Amino acid sequence: MYISQSLTLLILLSTVSAQTKSSKRGLVYVPSPKHPLDDRWWDSSTSDLTWYYNYGSQPSPAFSNNSNFQFVPMLWGAPSSSSDTTFLDDVTSLIKGGTNISYVLTFNEPDGGDNGGSNVDAQIAAETWIREVEPLKQLGVKLGAPAVTGAPTGFNWLQNFFTHCAGNCSADFLPVHWYGNFEGLASHVGQVNGTYQNMTMWVTEYAQDHATLEESQSFYNQSSQFFDRIDYITHYSYFGSFRSDASNVGPNAAMLTQKGDLTDIGSWYLGGTATGKVPKGAADKRGMFTGSSILIAMATIWTLL
Ligand SMILES: *[C@@H]1O[C@H](CO)[C@@H](O)[C@H](O)[C@H]1NC(C)=O
Ligand SMILES: *[C@@H]1O[C@H](CO)[C@@H](O)[C@H](O)[C@H]1NC(C)=O
Ligand SMILES: *[C@@H]1O[C@H](CO)[C@@H](O)[C@H](O)[C@H]1NC(C)=O
Ligand SMILES: *[C@@H]1O[C@H](CO)[C@@H](O)[C@H](O)[C@H]1NC(C)=O
Ligand SMILES: *[C@@H]1O[C@H](CO)[C@@H](O)[C@H](O)[C@H]1NC(C)=O
Ligand SMILES: *[C@@H]1O[C@H](CO)[C@@H](O)[C@H](O)[C@H]1NC(C)=O
Repeated sequence: MYISQSLTLLILLSTVSAQTKSSKRGLVYVPSPKHPLDDRWWDSSTSDLTWYYNYGSQPSPAFSNNSNFQFVPMLWGAPSSSSDTTFLDDVTSLIKGGTNISYVLTFNEPDGGDNGGSNVDAQIAAETWIREVEPLKQLGVKLGAPAVTGAPTGFNWLQNFFTHCAGNCSADFLPVHWYGNFEGLASHVGQVNGTYQNMTMWVTEYAQDHATLEESQSFYNQSSQFFDRIDYITHYSYFGSFRSDASNVGPNAAMLTQKGDLTDIGSWYLGGTATGKVPKGAADKRGMFTGSSILIAMATIWTLL
């Protein structure tokens, strides 16, 4: 009897850990011109993805037939001219043209210039926000605060940003980036919530970078269960929608193998079961990225793809 109870418990527990579906899940993805067929994996009609972003203000043509895959425009950096309203105009046109835009994201790693971040001065960002982002509120769009890195510089930058806004940047939610282990992620999320208690959170880039396959998978499992459990995290997008040999966060974090097949993590993320496909890296590039755990950004990926 003792044995059969333990068995039941074991079965229950494994059912819980195999629960891989989540409506909070989205995609951060820049289509690869080199491997256009890889786009097919992210078709939202065959997965549980509900939203995506591509670091830009225009939807990805690859997903134009995915009506249930909501595009989230991003104002990546600050335009060079202080009267530029391209982002505002683009998003307004999309909405007027019938595209369902509920949210926008702003400023990708403005505090992380050296690793592909947008490197924007907090005052310029505040001025840009007031000109290009705040007016979208009138159209019913929810506004994402700047997506700073997970480093201490992120907290400082964000505080400066809100100071320069002087109450005129009404952010609705706070995007978070994290590269590192699960304990670090949980502690960071707690610190962000403690600092900005009025805002829900989106985790728009995260992975355990440069880890073993087992560590990467265990991190993936722990973090998705954590995000699904916490009410104030409403959306998350795993940083891994690329081939393992082009990954700047190490091969084991990637959702696609070097051949373009789904890895276990890739399949779990889409709501499927393990594929058993083991990702391999390119030549060992680890040295280039030491200490990069918090400063990974898209410009780097663009150059690698
Ligand atoms: C991760 O979760 C999957 C089920 O979703 C399970 O099969 C796998 O063993 C777990 N791996 C680790 C390392 O926790
Ligand atoms: C979308 O559907 C149209 C009409 O069926 C087709 O011509 C087009 O190639 C499709 N686009 C993509 C990106 O699949
Ligand atoms: C637009 O997307 C939101 C989710 O972000 C959804 O609740 C709403 O029903 C959608 N509206 C239309 C017209 O599809
Ligand atoms: C914020 O809004 C107030 C009231 O509209 C205005 O007086 C002030 O100049 C604005 N501050 C900035 C930094 O735009
Ligand atoms: C949360 O606080 C920040 C900083 O004071 C403010 O700019 C933002 O508009 C607030 N957001 C909400 C949803 O109240
Ligand atoms: C942040 O955490 C506190 C304490 O758990 C909670 O009361 C608060 O509602 C959280 N913030 C949001 C936006 O949910």
